[in-house]
Amino acid sequence: MAILEVLKYPDPRLRHKAKPVDKVTPELKQLAEDMLETMYSQKGIGLAAIQVGVDVALLVIDIRPQGDEDRYDLDENLTDLEKAVEMPLVIFNPVITKKEGKTTFDEGCLSLPGYYETVQRSKYIEVTGLDKDGNPLELQLDGLLSICMQHEMDHLDGKVFIDRLSPIKSNRIKAKIKKFGYSPPEEEEEAEEKLLV
Ligand code: NI
Repeated sequence: MAILEVLKYPDPRLRHKAKPVDKVTPELKQLAEDMLETMYSQKGIGLAAIQVGVDVALLVIDIRPQGDEDRYDLDENLTDLEKAVEMPLVIFNPVITKKEGKTTFDEGCLSLPGYYETVQRSKYIEVTGLDKDGNPLELQLDGLLSICMQHEMDHLDGKVFIDRLSPIKSNRIKAKIKKFGYSPPEEEEEAEEKLLV
């Protein structure tokens, strides 16, 4: 296992579009393991291969609390659909086949650490793909897991969450990143409390 470098916005490689895999090779399985270790090391709940500079359609998700139970008491808030999905979730070639409803969440991202904004997403989605062993996977998702999946799938399409904001909000974040980089002085403490996807 290895901790990988997570690319930070505006790294141009975050704009790459992921290619679907033909087959889940041992190398791709290892990449998924390394991505999980990287995600856990930064207390993230989701990570896309594009974020570690690999242009394949692979993402990993784990919405369970990681060691620090005080951070978020997620287990109690899990929906029945979320409970039905085994964590950690590794998925290759994810495709959304159905979406319903709307929801909002204050999103953050390991590629824009310290910055958060409310993003609108579909509330319920159905997703197909391949699991960590290359077997077909069909998921029905709602709650945080649905939001996280949509956020990570955006990465595979070369998008980051600020692309989903109004120009005013997105420009405000871009200007802050330009000025402060990834140590915004007044938001550091708040950042500790939030979820990173
Ligand atoms: Ni992200």
